[in-house]
Amino acid sequence: MISRTRPSGRRLRTLSASGTAAIVAVLVVSLLPSLAQAAEATLGAAATQSGRYFGAAVAANKLGDGAYTTILNREFNSVTPENEMKIDATEPQQNNFTFGNADRIVNHALSRGWKVRGHTLAWHSQQPGWMQNMSGTALRNAMLNHVTRVATYYRGKIDSWDVVNEAFADGNSGARRDSNLQRTGNDWIEAAFRAARSADPGAKLCYNDYNTDNWTWAKTQAVYNMVRDFKQRGVPIDCVGFQSHFNANSPYNSNYRTTLSSFAALGVDVQITELDIEGSGTTQANTYRSVVNDCLAVPRCNGITVWGIRDSDSWRSGGTPLLFDNSGNKKQAYTATLDALNSAGPGPTPTPTTPGPTPTATPTGSPGSASEIVGAQSGRCIDVPNASRSNGTRVQLYDCNKQSNQSWTYTTNRQLRVYGDMCLDAAGSGNGAAVQIYSCHNQTNQQWNVNSNGTITGVQSGRCLDVWSTSNGAQVQLYDCNGQANQQFRLAPLA
Ligand code: XIL
Repeated sequence: MISRTRPSGRRLRTLSASGTAAIVAVLVVSLLPSLAQAAEATLGAAATQSGRYFGAAVAANKLGDGAYTTILNREFNSVTPENEMKIDATEPQQNNFTFGNADRIVNHALSRGWKVRGHTLAWHSQQPGWMQNMSGTALRNAMLNHVTRVATYYRGKIDSWDVVNEAFADGNSGARRDSNLQRTGNDWIEAAFRAARSADPGAKLCYNDYNTDNWTWAKTQAVYNMVRDFKQRGVPIDCVGFQSHFNANSPYNSNYRTTLSSFAALGVDVQITELDIEGSGTTQANTYRSVVNDCLAVPRCNGITVWGIRDSDSWRSGGTPLLFDNSGNKKQAYTATLDALNSAGPGPTPTPTTPGPTPTATPTGSPGSASEIVGAQSGRCIDVPNASRSNGTRVQLYDCNKQSNQSWTYTTNRQLRVYGDMCLDAAGSGNGAAVQIYSCHNQTNQQWNVNSNGTITGVQSGRCLDVWSTSNGAQVQLYDCNGQANQQFRLAPLA
């Protein structure tokens, strides 16, 4: 057993190079908290410094365009399918679900360790013909069935779902938007959120809208009142998405920061979900800078998504509202955005600023030997349900049985491998992110520190493996480390 208090030469030798680097990094951060962070060269890496993601809306039919994919893969670490998860795309005929194009985007993202924003489960627009023609109880049930089926299909893969999109009216009324869904009863929104929570308990559930950026607008206040009411009554809502399509009719206003912080104060995350800013040159760049700085000023503003990559990819291409020009060159707006992200201090989920628990490189047994991972509170083992080998299968607790689906090998590069070639994988980095199996790659969402204090922490997220019950079938997720027994695990050698 390695001493925790007195590092010996042997202990240093047993640490991997990256483990040593991680400790040095933690010490440097903790000893020199006032040092500016090194500038990162891409949007995703720059946002990650403060624990945020930077995403783009992606179209499946552009994934074959090399210029497009080069920028996507270099700059972003989150995606939102631009149209592929909408109701008309996923349920073109009632009860006939098609996920091919959405899956292309989801797989592209998850295989790279990125987040996916799901968009959107319930909306008045882009409904298939069969739904447009429905009303009353039949429509309500069809909508709930849609929410359940789609959220279940993607269970464990989605960081945040736009459960309901654009349910409020523009203008000064503060009323709900009239729609076939609204006409099924005012409680349709909370019914959709409850169905989504049951189907995918690990995803953050968001309400998403536009023209809700200006704090003084009636629509903003109306959505705020709904979210406050939901929180008070225990309707499951975790986040609010601000589309933030800025143009002359819906201009950026400096009270945007007040909007973000006011919603966050209700106890929800806030996300900028469809950002685009019409214009060009310095004016456009300055507005992008302001938007990013407003998000960075609000700890619960945990991610920004732009609605497309190049201006030519935009749904409003005539307004040249994005960060890259038609040829894929970085615009002034790009530089302003990157610089603002790089200026952020540590945010909501940064690298720990105090030394955390000590990672132990080979916790028990010899490197490469298989262990079961036993929960201290439950006595149960981390298990792949039904011995599945499918990417995205979420792991659970189950009675220990020494079978291959409970047999994990901790590698020198800190993967936890099962069946030889599949890895324990975090489907996101936020609280509640699903922990699943996925084909091994070398991203940090598949790297784990097995710590001397009994926790197992994700290298990407810094969060702890966590279970919310001790029962057979209890799902494993990421959560802020809290020192509780449901976050304590032991690697017990099987040989
Ligand atoms: C837009 C897409 O970008 C277009 O390709 C499509 O034709 C229409 O929808 N608010 C939303 C997004 O929530 O889904 C919309 O996306 C833009 C406005």
